[in-house]
Amino acid sequence: MASGSIDAKLRKRAERVIPGGMYGHMAVQRGMPEGYPQFFERASGCRLWDVDGNEYIDFMCSYGPMIAGYGNPRIRAAADAQRERFDIGDGPPPVLVELAEKFTGQITHADWAVFAKNGNDATTICNMIARAHTGKRKILVGESAYHGSQPWANRRARGTPPEEHIHYPTYRFNDVEHVRATARKAGGDLAGIVVSSYKHDVPQRQELVDPAFAREVRKICDAESAVLILDDVRGGLRLSLDASWSELGVQPDLSAWGKAIANGEPLAAVLGSEPYREAASSIFYTGSFWYQGAPFAAAIETLDVLKEVNAPRRMEQLGQQFRDGLYEQAQRHGFGIHQSGPPQMPMIEFENDSKKTQVASFCANALRHGVYLHPWHNMFLSIAHTEADIEQALEGTDKAFGELP
Ligand SMILES: Cc1ncc(COP(=O)(O)O)c(C=O)c1O
Repeated sequence: MASGSIDAKLRKRAERVIPGGMYGHMAVQRGMPEGYPQFFERASGCRLWDVDGNEYIDFMCSYGPMIAGYGNPRIRAAADAQRERFDIGDGPPPVLVELAEKFTGQITHADWAVFAKNGNDATTICNMIARAHTGKRKILVGESAYHGSQPWANRRARGTPPEEHIHYPTYRFNDVEHVRATARKAGGDLAGIVVSSYKHDVPQRQELVDPAFAREVRKICDAESAVLILDDVRGGLRLSLDASWSELGVQPDLSAWGKAIANGEPLAAVLGSEPYREAASSIFYTGSFWYQGAPFAAAIETLDVLKEVNAPRRMEQLGQQFRDGLYEQAQRHGFGIHQSGPPQMPMIEFENDSKKTQVASFCANALRHGVYLHPWHNMFLSIAHTEADIEQALEGTDKAFGELP
C-alpha cells in the first residue's frame, strides 16, 4: 500500500490501539505479500473494494463464510426481516427450531442440532459431548489440522501450556495404521477422533481424503466405542450439501459446522445422531449471542439457495475452470505449478518454491490486476462467481504470470 493511502493511515492508527496492528488470520502482516490491503469498505457478489477504492474479484470469500455472494438479496432479506421482528431477547425465536428441522432433514447423520457462533464453539462442543457420552478423555486430532484457535486446538501458538494437549494425541491424516496405533496408545480412554473434511492444513499442500481411510477410521471408532467427529467447518456446504464424508458413504456421529452456513451471518452448528442426544442435553454450553434470530433466518435461506443450484457441483465447475486456466497459463509462461484440494477450495503452489516467494510475487501481481488470491492458504469459490468472473480473473492472472521474473 502506498504510504499516503487510506489503508496505510488506518494501519498506523491500528498499530497504536490493536496489538500487532491486527490479529488472527486476517492480519496481512502475517505473511501476505506487499500490497495486500488490510481494510475493506464494500463487498457485493464475488467482489470486494478496499478502503482506497480498488476492486477485486475475491477468491477468499471471507476465508469461507461467503458462499452465495456478499449481500445475496434473498439471504439478506431473510436476515433483515428476522432482525426487524426479533433478533435477541430472553429466549430464541421460532426460526431456531425451523433451522434445526431443516438441518436434520438435510444432513443424513443428524437427528438433532445445537447452535453457537464460531467453528471453535462447534468443535469444542463436539469434544464435550463425546466425553460426556463415553466417560473417556482422549480425543485424537490430525497432526497439523486446524479446529479453531482455542487452547485445546491451538498447539503452535504461544500462551497455551503443553498440558492443555495431554488428552489430544495426534495422528497422521490418511494414515490408517497411524490412527490405529495412536488409538491403541489411548488404551481404554479413547473418547473420540476428530477428522477434517479433507487435509487442508495450512500452509501445506492439500490432500483429499482417501475413502479407505474414512471407512477405516469409522471402524476404529466403532471398535473402540469412540465418537467420530467430522469437522466440516471449512468444507461444509462446499463439498456436499450433506456432511462431507457422506459422499464416501461414511457417516460421522457428530459434525461441526460454521463459516458458510449462514452466508456470513455469525452462526455455527453441532449436528448429532440419536445415540448422542442424551449426552448433548446433559452438559452445559451457551453464549450470549447463540440464540440470535437473524443468522438462523439467513441459514434457512442459505440452505435453500444452495440446494436450488446444486452449489457444490456449481462451485466445483467454476473452480475447475479457474484451475484449468491457471495450468494453461503457467505452461505457456514457462512455470511449473501445483494445484491441490477440491476445485471449489483450490490452492496453488509453484515448483521449487519452498519459501513461497514466487507464489507470493504471483499473488501480488494478480492483486494489482484486480484478483484477490492467497499465496499459502486454500482459497474458496462461491456460487456468486460466474464463468465471466473467472474469465476476467484469468485475464488478471495471465498478466501476473507475465510479470514474474
Ligand atoms: C476446519 C476448521 N475448523 C474449525 C475452525 C474454527 O472456526 P472459527 O474460526 O469460526 O472459530 C476453522 C476456521 O478456519 C476451520 O477451518
